[in-house]
Amino acid sequence: MAERRLTISELEERDLPFLFELWHMPEVMKYADELPSLRGWSKSSDAEKAWRKYGQRRTSLGRGYTQLILRLMKGENLGEAFFAPVPDDFTLDEWRKPEGAVCLIGDIKLKPEYWGQGMGTEGMRGVVEWLFGNTDCGLLVVPPHGMNPAAVRVYEKAGFVHTEETRSWRGHRIMELWRDAFEAARGQ
Ligand SMILES: CC(C)(COP(=O)(O)OP(=O)(O)OC[C@H]1O[C@@H](n2cnc3c(N)ncnc32)[C@H](O)[C@@H]1OP(=O)(O)O)[C@@H](O)C(=O)NCCC(=O)NCCS
Repeated sequence: MAERRLTISELEERDLPFLFELWHMPEVMKYADELPSLRGWSKSSDAEKAWRKYGQRRTSLGRGYTQLILRLMKGENLGEAFFAPVPDDFTLDEWRKPEGAVCLIGDIKLKPEYWGQGMGTEGMRGVVEWLFGNTDCGLLVVPPHGMNPAAVRVYEKAGFVHTEETRSWRGHRIMELWRDAFEAARGQ
């Protein structure tokens, strides 16, 4: 088995300047559309305010609302993944949240200097493990843009599959990973 190069952990207040810097990189944000009102504080550049809002949302939405930070083993931050609970009536064009499923939606972003080295794949696999291991979600959803093949590939390699809906939200395609499929692939 390949040696682990990164760790996944929950956001700490000291990570906020890193996130603000990452979200201001045009190449990182090229295909990123903030899902309607999902995170709720990413437009802020006031760390104290963002930290407070994150805490408030987490208190009301639970651990499924989670900002994760990807760090190199030596400690440096290399990216982030954010996931949030999908409300019952949530739709993205033809995609509709499956009734009764506890569902989280989100994505992953890395600093460009780390792209193309398998870090996205390793990171996303770790994020999936973290989410199924630390929340009660039954379904993870990601909406990579159709023009962003690296993201689609990373999600495929982490176990996500395309849904049947042909149309998608603002050029984004909806991919799903069910807990059953994740556990079956791990041989549980
Ligand atoms: C998407 C992202 C996380 C990928 O990270 P990464 O570390 O470069 O990914 P990896 O190196 O693990 O793998 C990339 C895969 O995409 C493939 N890929 C890259 N560019 C590609 C292209 N233009 N066409 C087809 N496949 C491509 C690579 O070949 C590799 O697949 P392989 O292992 O089967 O060869 C990174 O590019 C990123 O942070 N982008 C900006 C933010 C973003 O768009 N996030 C997704 C939002 S939904």
